Amino acid sequence: MHSHPEAADTLIVGAQLYDGTGAPPVERDVAIRDGRIVAIGNLSNWLAEEVIEANGRALAPGFIDVHTHDDTHVIQSPQMLPKITQGVTTVIVGNCGISASPVSLKGDPPDPMNLLGERDAFQYPTFAAYVEAVNAARPAVNVGALIGHTALRSNQMDRLDRAATAEEIDGMRAQLEEALSNGALGLSSGLAYGSAFSAPTEEVMALAEPLAAAGALYTTHMRTEFDAILDAMDEAYRVGRHAHVPVVISHLKCAGPSNWGRSEEVLKSLEGARRLQPIGCDCYPYNRSSSTLDLKQVTGDIDITITWSEPHPEMAGKLIKEIAAEWGVTQQEAGKRLQPAGAVYHNMSEDDVRRILSHPATMVGSDGLPNDPLPHPRLWGAFPRVLGHYARDAKLLPLEEAVRKMTSLSAQRFGLTQRGEVRIGYHADLVLFDPARVRDAATFENPQQAADGIDAVWVNGVLTYRDGAVTGERAGHFVARGAASKGDAHGAF
Ligand code: ZN
Ligand code: CU
Repeated sequence: MHSHPEAADTLIVGAQLYDGTGAPPVERDVAIRDGRIVAIGNLSNWLAEEVIEANGRALAPGFIDVHTHDDTHVIQSPQMLPKITQGVTTVIVGNCGISASPVSLKGDPPDPMNLLGERDAFQYPTFAAYVEAVNAARPAVNVGALIGHTALRSNQMDRLDRAATAEEIDGMRAQLEEALSNGALGLSSGLAYGSAFSAPTEEVMALAEPLAAAGALYTTHMRTEFDAILDAMDEAYRVGRHAHVPVVISHLKCAGPSNWGRSEEVLKSLEGARRLQPIGCDCYPYNRSSSTLDLKQVTGDIDITITWSEPHPEMAGKLIKEIAAEWGVTQQEAGKRLQPAGAVYHNMSEDDVRRILSHPATMVGSDGLPNDPLPHPRLWGAFPRVLGHYARDAKLLPLEEAVRKMTSLSAQRFGLTQRGEVRIGYHADLVLFDPARVRDAATFENPQQAADGIDAVWVNGVLTYRDGAVTGERAGHFVARGAASKGDAHGAF
């Protein structure tokens, strides 16, 4: 069993290998067979059906997008162009309290579940049905899934502007347990949104209780990212301690001008808590956020760009203050007339974004919104922007550290076993890119643009994207939470 086979399906030769652990690059050849990495080293005596000359370009584990809203996109647009063109090989769906399953809608999806699609996109009353649909769609990327607290609330409750009763919590727990037994990665919440804001911490704590036995985790779009952010972080820690589960704070940011400059304080809180319990966070590399239009954020102190509006689609791309001026009304009134709508909020300081992005506990996640007609450019640009703009051009962090934040850190934290590193025996999710050319091309004005410098992407050993074009192969599938490897999972935090 220890004689080394010398034939591969694919051989990538002469690469600068970034193995995902944060180690500096080394020149290596990598062999792939049957979807796995079977050899790493000098493989000049190997044969392969396909040989790819890396010519000193960077080879890294395929990127893991830990924060997506691709729940229905992986089924409806399985080619997954916005992600595969960035070198992303695995997406985690179900963030911010909203998931496509398990969901049985009684009417239109409540805000912000409408980010995932309209009523007819929600066809998965059980998590098992969702898993089946993902695999039947044969997406180009692997798909891991969280279960949204708001989605569970919408199943069990007649109205969302109140706390759930004990009976409703039992109903939510039963649905969460079904999902966990079918490989869901954990529970997400979106406590800032009106559809979950009335849920007391105790409701989330009770719902989080089954996670530990399943080796799952809790992620949260916190109750606020504005002035009371430290309290919101404490709430997240409290849920983690109560349920004995790791916590991921989603898209950590200091939102709103009165909150700018507080990232140091925020990270100090995170570090303090990390001494007591496993906690991490993700962030996207931009100083503007995006979601549905929230009238509470229409205060006049920041610019807000409208990206879509059901009654006024012609206003997409305009600032709300311009629309208000055009209509001769206040910004609040304009916001009301535009609803339901989507928005980009110019609500972060660049210094804070940089400090949070470069913190060792921070993973990269796009938070991209694939159903938005004028999506925030993070949908197509997040990963190459970290590699090109922040690591190479701004020298904010070494390239190997940028890669770690997109690969091994993410895989360990979310329990995606045998992914996130270039290692013998691991799944052959790989990206070949040019460190000199890699660059995000998506902009706020023109956001649906493939990145430059991502030269080849393999998913489960299958070449899926090469030289700016998809190959037509789609080799992704649903990935279940890995068997608990406790040492590993905690080491990652
Ligand atoms: Zn969110
Ligand atoms: Cu999100």
